[in-house]
Amino acid sequence: MVKNLQKSLIEKETLYGANNYSPLPLVLNKGQGVYLWDVDGNKYLDMMSAYSAVSHGHSHPELINVLVEQSKKLAITSRAFYTEPFGEYIEKLSTLSGFSNILPMNTGAEAVETAIKAARRWGYFTKGIEQNKAEIIVANGNFHGRTTTIVGFSSEDDYKRGFGPFSPGFVEADYCSSSCDCANVCEKSIDSISKLINKNTCAVLVEPIQGEGGIITPRDGWLKQLRQLCDEKNILLILDEIQSGLGRTGKLFAFQHEDIVPDGLILGKALGGGLLPVSAFLSNEEVMSHFNPGSHGSTFGGNPLAAKVASKALDLLFDDSLIENSREMGSYLANELRSMECKIIKEVRGKGLWIGVEIEQNISAKKICLSLMEEGILAKETHETVIRFAPPLIITKEEIDWAIARIKKVFNSYT
Ligand SMILES: Cc1ncc(COP(=O)(O)O)c(C=O)c1O
Repeated sequence: MVKNLQKSLIEKETLYGANNYSPLPLVLNKGQGVYLWDVDGNKYLDMMSAYSAVSHGHSHPELINVLVEQSKKLAITSRAFYTEPFGEYIEKLSTLSGFSNILPMNTGAEAVETAIKAARRWGYFTKGIEQNKAEIIVANGNFHGRTTTIVGFSSEDDYKRGFGPFSPGFVEADYCSSSCDCANVCEKSIDSISKLINKNTCAVLVEPIQGEGGIITPRDGWLKQLRQLCDEKNILLILDEIQSGLGRTGKLFAFQHEDIVPDGLILGKALGGGLLPVSAFLSNEEVMSHFNPGSHGSTFGGNPLAAKVASKALDLLFDDSLIENSREMGSYLANELRSMECKIIKEVRGKGLWIGVEIEQNISAKKICLSLMEEGILAKETHETVIRFAPPLIITKEEIDWAIARIKKVFNSYT
């Protein structure tokens, strides 16, 4: 009878939904820490964290407390007014990140759109690019969200099919992959970016690690070279750290692995503490000064409730040692996966608690995720042959050991 409940809820989603997702066949109704429960009471280890949005763990009690208290006091006003929590929140994010100015948004895609607008205005107003000629270089395999502008420069046909016409002004260069066969850093990628630069180029927009692209990890030194190139050519380097930021890779920001600083940074997901959609574009005064009242905005962006929750989410990165745990547990999990000696594993890659396991091409990653689900582990495939493991950053060694035993059992059942 209880099983029927899952079935009927799935039927409802299918009947009344838009069919733009293909979820695993289970219906969740509770989350706590690293665990999720379905409506039948079955418990699962969440190794996906809502695409890295739940870094703090589900329903973190301190975040819930802030959410409840602030929503009783003042939740939404729009930015037609100054509000108490907003200034304090952006001061904290600025101090923490080193970026002087912050423009708040809600979803990741909105913050990417904000970065695009900022880069174009900087291109026209600071660099002197001729009106409507600005170009932004993006990477193949990118994922920056789902608006029509953003999917327009995706390399995935399925993200674009039937959604054109798309915005002009984006050109695609090669991304760097750690498995490329370049002798040094990654000449192929840096050369292809160089070749696309012209007097109209205002920015290079990339992810420091391509998450949706399959946890593609560039070679060490690539970001540094990209930074140098952008400096030489007077181009903004904008990093989309919506997924890689806020501790996911074992550093506060992924760019810190390379000791560089981008001109613009895009954050989202974990910024909302796993409770609310909170995103932001961060940059310096020169870039941000080109926004004026009326040029950009969002009804919900920077609302008091989001500001208070995001502010607490930032504190908890340190109070709960999430960044160190990501680094330590990430390297433990990656080593355990690497030493599994399982025939179906081609490669284990990633940084911190953001790990992609590339499996042999003749095996369906989705099927493996279904088998993992049967064993009590929720993970999601990306690009047919990659299974990503990105648990909440609070996961412990014991929980990883529990998962590894089950992952091993499932992987071995496919050989
Ligand atoms: C790197 C990156 N950029 C942008 C986005 C889009 O964020 P949202 O789904 O919140 O719009 C995502 C989402 O997965 C992402 O991983």
